[in-house]
Amino acid sequence: MKKQSMMNQSVSRRTALGLLGAGGATAVLAGCGMGMGGGSTTRKNANPGGTPGDPLTAPIELRSSNGVLDVELTASATKLPWGDGERFALAYNGSVPGPTLRVRPGDTLRVKLNNDLGQTTNLHTHGLHVSPEGNSDNIYVMVEPGKSFSYEYRIPDDHPSGTFWYHPHHHGTVAPQIFGGLAGALIVEDRIDDIAELRGADQHVLLLSDPRIGTSKSVLDATTAEKQAGREGDVLLVNGQLQPTITAPAGKVQYWRIVNSSASRYYRLSVDAPAMYLIGTDQGRLPSPQRVNDVTLTPGQRAEVLVPLVGVGRVTLSTTEVERGKNMSMGSGMGGMGMGGGSTGASIGPTTPLLSVDVGPAQSPPANLPAEVRPAPSTPMRADRRRAISFGAMSMGNGEFVIDGQSFSADRITADPRSGTTEDWVVTNNSMMDHPFHLHVWPFQVIGRSGGGALDPGWRDTVNVPTGESVTLRIPFEDFTGKTVMHCHILDHEDLGMMANVEVS
Ligand code: C2O
Ligand code: CU
Ligand code: CU
Repeated sequence: MKKQSMMNQSVSRRTALGLLGAGGATAVLAGCGMGMGGGSTTRKNANPGGTPGDPLTAPIELRSSNGVLDVELTASATKLPWGDGERFALAYNGSVPGPTLRVRPGDTLRVKLNNDLGQTTNLHTHGLHVSPEGNSDNIYVMVEPGKSFSYEYRIPDDHPSGTFWYHPHHHGTVAPQIFGGLAGALIVEDRIDDIAELRGADQHVLLLSDPRIGTSKSVLDATTAEKQAGREGDVLLVNGQLQPTITAPAGKVQYWRIVNSSASRYYRLSVDAPAMYLIGTDQGRLPSPQRVNDVTLTPGQRAEVLVPLVGVGRVTLSTTEVERGKNMSMGSGMGGMGMGGGSTGASIGPTTPLLSVDVGPAQSPPANLPAEVRPAPSTPMRADRRRAISFGAMSMGNGEFVIDGQSFSADRITADPRSGTTEDWVVTNNSMMDHPFHLHVWPFQVIGRSGGGALDPGWRDTVNVPTGESVTLRIPFEDFTGKTVMHCHILDHEDLGMMANVEVS
């Protein structure tokens, strides 16, 4: 661990001095056990830590070539530079976030996961439409301490392009492992990514996280009350950095692929620029850019936005705290079944800056926004069957979070759709707080909200279900069969039992 920490510091120093050329990148790769071939590396890696105003850094990017991306990820505890000192974290290849993986539809992604954590872990590719079986996105595989496992994901030829992510999925320790820093972006690119307006934009992958800062693994501890509320950390970070800065000329368009990798925190993102445009959600692009005032992301959700830089000055990306009912549930035990109806979803401040852009003089005429970012994806006209799913919390003081009244059990099948059919799921939340519903493998569209709220645009894999309301999802169970899970993406709730099996046959 000592060695690991020194390596990170030396990487950080090189970056600060601007010396990271090919030699620097090689050093990082050698130190991390990468470089298995079948893919190329771009950009640099750094963990510059907690000094506001430092230039934004990106994790190493590993890109497929000739249809293959072969990577090795080693999960271990480490210390990352933080201000003048360091902080405890869990990291893939010594980096938080882990490497960004870029693949294309039709590719094969192979990940050899080495577990140096000293506790069981595994890997999930959140949002990928791939097989949930065998050594693909199979979250029932467990990788014991000191062991390795080789995953292989065959990405369908018609997989939507978009922003996805990877993280551990070992039931019972998902929250502390992701909260500790085990997360990375996984980008699928296709021809729509080659349109000039997107290629010409200044693209950044932004992983949002809110760790607790400390020098020992006790930062991963949480009390029962904190788990029930869903743990939130001390600081809000972008790519592991506190309030980093991007420098860009006026006239450029910022293109941000944003991932909420926090364990529990909801973000309501806004910029003080003249306009922000949403172009993609969890599952790929919207038909065309949509002008928005803000974008709310529950844990697990992603958004792709465009922000044109108009004049010289400073543009800040901020988040406002969202009322998700975490305080309503406290003090009244767990919030009993059927006692929903509180109002959530409001912005309750404070507003915290996440990132700023120092906008310099224009170097070229203002760039245009793309007119179209994806042909309109169709929603199936009708469903073959309707299913009711209920999210709840037990009031017995034992802190159990349940789906359909039951805490997670590996062998109970809660939903058993037929492959090739489409289902409507009415997900009801009978507890006192909001829960983000997430389904693996099969994307859905939101077609109804009992509370009358706006229907979330685009295809999704994670959606907020407000307290006391129900949300109706239309889900085509296409392409794959097998067993996987649905769960609450407040990861402490998932660890406390708010997960259930789905088996498609
Ligand atoms: Cu982001 Cu079941 O996971
Ligand atoms: Cu997932
Ligand atoms: Cu929850």
